[in-house]
Amino acid sequence: MSDTLDVDGLVEQARAAVAAATTTEEIREVIASVAGKKSPIAQAGRSLGGLEPDARKELGQKLHAARAVIEQLVEERRSQISAEELARDMEAGRIDLTEFIEGSIPAPATRGHLHLVTQTRDALEDVFVGMGFEVAEGPEIETDWFNFGALNIPPAHPARGMWDTFYLDLGAPESTLLRTHTSPVQIHLMEEAVSSGGLPIHAVMPGRCYRRDTPDARHLPVFHQIEGLVVDKGITFADLAGTIEVFTSAYFGPDIHSRLRPAYFPFTEPSAEFEVTCTICHGEGCRTCSQTGWIELGGCGMVDPAVFGAVGIDPDQWTGFAFGFGIDRCAQMRHQIADMRALIENDIRFLRQF
Ligand code: PHE
Repeated sequence: MSDTLDVDGLVEQARAAVAAATTTEEIREVIASVAGKKSPIAQAGRSLGGLEPDARKELGQKLHAARAVIEQLVEERRSQISAEELARDMEAGRIDLTEFIEGSIPAPATRGHLHLVTQTRDALEDVFVGMGFEVAEGPEIETDWFNFGALNIPPAHPARGMWDTFYLDLGAPESTLLRTHTSPVQIHLMEEAVSSGGLPIHAVMPGRCYRRDTPDARHLPVFHQIEGLVVDKGITFADLAGTIEVFTSAYFGPDIHSRLRPAYFPFTEPSAEFEVTCTICHGEGCRTCSQTGWIELGGCGMVDPAVFGAVGIDPDQWTGFAFGFGIDRCAQMRHQIADMRALIENDIRFLRQF
């Protein structure tokens, strides 16, 4: 038998059968036929006992090698088949969540929601109302007097450079403008209070402001501020600092704090810039806060007696503080919006996240 058994031929037959199998079921059958008990190779193995020792040894080695090759072929094909079957199953079971067949379901009623800036304004108002402030508003078109003059910024005052102003083609040149900040609403409130006996004042004034700024990641030419004004008896700088700290933690969270740094505004004296803990790194220092751990949010200070003078409030009887900061900037910081321009681009994918 040893001369007639073509071991290489058996291997080739097995190779062909293995290659032809395409399913787990088929490869199982192939394994039985090429390596099972009844396979030619197993039968050949059983007949070894009848051979001469030399011939037995020779054929035994050949069969052993052939078996190893066949087993390897089978193993390779088996794992190939199971990978293919898994891939087929996955493809068959895939659910296309983006699929939407027009008309197959009633069109959902699309319901919008308030813009993030409006939500932020509402949230800020809530915080201040909770602290005892009233909410007031004023016009977006102002005269030079309300936006500048009454705030101790006379014409040609160098501080006017702090606000790049849009003037309106209305009345005398540069007499009317789009307000550059919400501070003119302070003047309206104080004038009203004086004429109606409405002191003291504890109010916040949110609203839209305009500056001739090129839009960038942190500035918009049309933006929103919220102004705060307290005029009462015995108000001190400590009241201002405390108010800002309470607001900061109430709005941004208990681990976010405020600090004041000396600054200059014509309508407050002393004046400060207020900064809050960087909401990105929580004070550790990062790129956004230039490694300082703090981010500037707005300005504040004690109402300058010259401003009280302009509206007819007696600065010997009354003192007060004011502050103002960007609502858009708050939204940006609280939600970590890298570029503020996203707020005005009307990309629904951005807006619907909030
Ligand atoms: N109006 C100032 C600005 O827009 C901010 C400010 C408000 C500063 C109130 C002091 C007091 O820059």
